[in-house]
Amino acid sequence: MKNTVVTFQQMKDKGEKITMLTAYDYSTAKLVDQAGINSILVGDSLGNVVLGYPDTVSVTMEDMIHHGAAVARGAENALVVIDMPFMSYQTGVYDAVVNAGRLMKEARGQAVKLEGGEEVCPQIKAITTASIPVVAHLGLTPQSINVFGGYKSQGRDLRSAKKLIRDALLVQEAGAFAVVLECVPEVLATLISKKLTIPTIGIGAGAGCDGQVLVYADMLAMFSDFRPKFVKAFANVGEAMRAGFKAYDEEVKAGTYPAEEHNYTMKDDVYDELKAYADTL
Ligand code: KIV
Repeated sequence: MKNTVVTFQQMKDKGEKITMLTAYDYSTAKLVDQAGINSILVGDSLGNVVLGYPDTVSVTMEDMIHHGAAVARGAENALVVIDMPFMSYQTGVYDAVVNAGRLMKEARGQAVKLEGGEEVCPQIKAITTASIPVVAHLGLTPQSINVFGGYKSQGRDLRSAKKLIRDALLVQEAGAFAVVLECVPEVLATLISKKLTIPTIGIGAGAGCDGQVLVYADMLAMFSDFRPKFVKAFANVGEAMRAGFKAYDEEVKAGTYPAEEHNYTMKDDVYDELKAYADTL
């Protein structure tokens, strides 16, 4: 059954955990969807995982539309949430609504996600007023990497923890239907999850959140540039891929691939005629 924003709220209300994974292409989206995951996030982690950037700052609207559309074509039941890239909403309410609209119309996402608290509440309000569901993102917000000075956990002192709770309440009030909490202490994420009526989706925020999200390439051990503490390898797909590529290389070089069963055939009489013709050339 198709997951919607209503499903998210019903799951929180019933105390059922929500699952979300990233995907950036059609085939992966299909696999995630077939596994019964509730939601697919076309994260701007696309910049790190697919495009090889050191961070998400360079990701463009065109990147998100291109990959978001591929994911949307592969997702039958999962709710597709597409990240708004850096500078597609920070510049103001007008840009935010126009760009959120492009992610819905051109990529056919079902919701957008943007990073920040109080400072982006006018954007959240305007986007939701335009009938576009919004997921907020608090804690370690990777688009602010240059302000944080690195990928550091957030909300560990009283002042920043208080601000995080306030921000969570404000984005809820502004109309967000869910909020991602990234790299914050478990106790803080649990407190926020109890305080909010909308679901929290944690990443490096402990089991007290209403749901969890991971970057699929991290949880399948396919991405090795950096490995945050909260990542668990649920399968070693990276190693399986390396082994598969190596076996292909060896078999092609040894002449054992392609084998008889991989070949297309031609009737003998056709071949004989063809051979005679080739000999005349
Ligand atoms: O871009 C992304 O993949 C994300 C998740 C880490 C939540 O925002």
